[in-house]
Amino acid sequence: MKDTALRIAGFKDSIFGVISKLAREHNAVNLGQGFPDFDGPDWLKDIVYKKMQEGHNQYAPFHGTANLRQEIANYYKSFYHLNYHPESEVTVTVGATEAIYLVITALINPGDEVVVLEPFYDSYVASIKMAGGIPIPVTMHAPDFLIDQKELDAAISPRTKLIILNNPHNPSGKVWLKQEIEMVAKAAEKSDAYLLSDEVYEFLVFDGCKHIPTATLEGMKERTITISSAGKTFGVTGWKIGWICANETVSKACRLVHQYVTFSVSTPMQEGVAESLKKLPEYLPGFVSLYKEKRDFFYKEMRQLGFDFSSPKGTYFMMVPISGKTKLNDVDYALKLIKENKVATVPPSAFYLKSTEGERYLRFCFAKKEVTLKNAVKNLQGL
Ligand SMILES: Cc1ncc(COP(=O)(O)O)c(C=O)c1O
Repeated sequence: MKDTALRIAGFKDSIFGVISKLAREHNAVNLGQGFPDFDGPDWLKDIVYKKMQEGHNQYAPFHGTANLRQEIANYYKSFYHLNYHPESEVTVTVGATEAIYLVITALINPGDEVVVLEPFYDSYVASIKMAGGIPIPVTMHAPDFLIDQKELDAAISPRTKLIILNNPHNPSGKVWLKQEIEMVAKAAEKSDAYLLSDEVYEFLVFDGCKHIPTATLEGMKERTITISSAGKTFGVTGWKIGWICANETVSKACRLVHQYVTFSVSTPMQEGVAESLKKLPEYLPGFVSLYKEKRDFFYKEMRQLGFDFSSPKGTYFMMVPISGKTKLNDVDYALKLIKENKVATVPPSAFYLKSTEGERYLRFCFAKKEVTLKNAVKNLQGL
């Protein structure tokens, strides 16, 4: 039989799948894959059930239900003073992952360069490669995950079409400061590139930190394509409802791809998310304090186990340095922890193209039940 397509040559099973499979085989506590091991709130599930009973069960308009696009536009306005037209500038997708694929496929020609800040969410580079684009990595240097102006400048060229920024940042837990976002925004302006701002953890920020959407920076709204995900905001990653907020031209281009990839997104889930977004102001304080409690507990325990690092300011991930514990690299140490300590983590070198800094860390996800975190800590005793 003939070969499969060249555009997927070199693709492997994602690191998340590999680690989860090993975790199951070794009966390890899984702090690898980034999702809560507890259920979302009952009121949320009740809303979707009600929407099904009310008959929202056939194909939705391909760019999203009117209610959901309106509620998305409403919250960008009320939280961030950003105005997106729900008809022409908001598009509903199957999670943020489809949004990333659409934006990249809609914008990138073969040979176009896309600047990715590493460590990165792995679907960025896969989507860039499928589009025939060239990922140009710029390293966010550990331990504070800062980018270097000179390295950023060197990565920019006349062929730069897109820069991808993720804030709050997976896997480091970093919440970007305004001047840091400005540095990336200026690079996008200088090269007349688009800026894809992946803000799926926009509401998961702690310690009085403030999430600053890239589109709120002066002069950046037209150039910025913002994506987010109800899966993260409501702790229901399996719902896979995401969205793109972008100018009309970019939205149109994304929709052209979307209509032939998924056509339309689950109707009752969209209607459920629309209803739930209305409740954000009452919902968010409890949501943030639940995850803050988990972060504080796990951080304290990890410090007591002798890992020396700063507490993450956002997301539900921690990049934990391992050099003080082992001479092994991240992959070998992660395998050792799964097999010998029965704790699964993600080796972050999979999130880098250029730097080897990821080999000195492991990513832990603390979006887990108290008992899961306690079992993990117990298994890690004596490291
Ligand atoms: C930074 C980042 N972007 C996008 C996604 C994908 O989100 P979704 O589940 O909505 O596709 C994730 C999921 O882990 C993520 O961490």
